[in-house]
Amino acid sequence: MPKAYCVTADAIERERERTKDNPSDYRISNILQLDELELRPVGPTDVRFRVLAVSAEHNINHAALADTVNIAALRGGKIYPGNSALGEVVETGELVTRFKPGDIVITHCNGEPDQYGYPTRIWAYDMPDSIGWYGEEAVVGDWQLIPAPLDCGLNLWEIAALPLRAPTANHLWRRAIGMWRVKVRLEQKNLANVLGFGGGVSELFLMQAAAAGHNAWFCSGNAARRAHMEKLGIRTIDQKQFNRFASKDDVKAFGKEVARLTDGTKMDIVCDMLRGPVFDAGLAAMGREAVNVSAGWQLSKVLTYDSAGASVKQITLDHTHYDTVTGANACVQLYGRVYKPTIHDEIYAFEDLPRAFDELEENTQTGIPIIRVAKEMPDSVKKLIP
Ligand SMILES: NC(=O)c1ccc[n+]([C@@H]2O[C@H](COP(=O)([O-])OP(=O)(O)OC[C@H]3O[C@@H](n4cnc5c(N)ncnc54)[C@H](OP(=O)(O)O)[C@@H]3O)[C@@H](O)[C@H]2O)c1
Repeated sequence: MPKAYCVTADAIERERERTKDNPSDYRISNILQLDELELRPVGPTDVRFRVLAVSAEHNINHAALADTVNIAALRGGKIYPGNSALGEVVETGELVTRFKPGDIVITHCNGEPDQYGYPTRIWAYDMPDSIGWYGEEAVVGDWQLIPAPLDCGLNLWEIAALPLRAPTANHLWRRAIGMWRVKVRLEQKNLANVLGFGGGVSELFLMQAAAAGHNAWFCSGNAARRAHMEKLGIRTIDQKQFNRFASKDDVKAFGKEVARLTDGTKMDIVCDMLRGPVFDAGLAAMGREAVNVSAGWQLSKVLTYDSAGASVKQITLDHTHYDTVTGANACVQLYGRVYKPTIHDEIYAFEDLPRAFDELEENTQTGIPIIRVAKEMPDSVKKLIP
């Protein structure tokens, strides 16, 4: 039986007892456990694939910390997480025409599209019965897979960094630029000032803004990630110079610095992704008619703001989530051309996956964390391994 990592409500409870109910002392590696998994038989429209590499995604930390909801408990006591993977097809159902054994694929994690295609649930998180991809093998419906763009110019780890983060960034960018354009016409202002706060999704969002010619700034506390963005021509701001917006004065100073950087006009578009103090900093950085988009709530899931002040400035706040299935397929065109992700220095071995999540939580990584799951790689991807 293939091995796969799981999060159990029992392990969370043990960690709660060990830390005397203090989630900030939780070790994710005490909660993520290697298990054996019986895969469902391959049905007529299913694909079985061998997982080659995955990226670490912060929602596993949400699952382990149970800080938004206790998703493992809600789903019957155990989940098999992992909603970003690159794999090799090993078996296909009799009705599958889009894939054949040997194909290299990536996943998307839209678990259940609503009537407009947006996810009501995320695969391997809140989608009932969904089994994730932090394991050696998986069986999914063929609609859950996308051919991997092996000739896009990215290496294998860079491609593996994108299945979850890139569609999220692409969705955020479409929404942000579309909403801003409703308010500010091309004849009035060609180029937007765009700000993103630390994290892989924001980095991709800013690459997309810069590729369309807009002025992009990346505000992060991580020097390695800032250096990568500067190499791509994206300006950076050190978030730690503003004490990560711990006080009102820090937020005020940040707003002043943004005004200086933008000749007084401030930002037209802000990608937040973290909320908490970052949300206040984003608001302070926004100019008139600006748009604030986010699909994340890592630092807080509750917002408070002056609605009247936002109205007077014609500010738009938008809440997004993962992309539609169509959008997830279409954004593969941007791999390598637009998206050049920052990868963490260490490529983790499968057995070190729990440590990758500890280090994600500690925020000590230099880029998107990648875990190599398969020891033996197919010939078709060997040349893409740096
Ligand atoms: N709804 C969706 O579909 C969706 C999809 C993707 C991600 N998300 C969520 O969005 C968030 C960001 O994801 P990501 O993949 O872009 O991030 P990521 O690559 O995992 O990076 C996380 C970033 O968080 C920042 N950070 C950590 N602790 C911080 C703190 N105390 N104050 C300020 N910044 C802090 C770090 O910024 P520095 O560089 O400044 O250290 C780090 O780069 C996560 O919560 C994730 O779960 C949601």
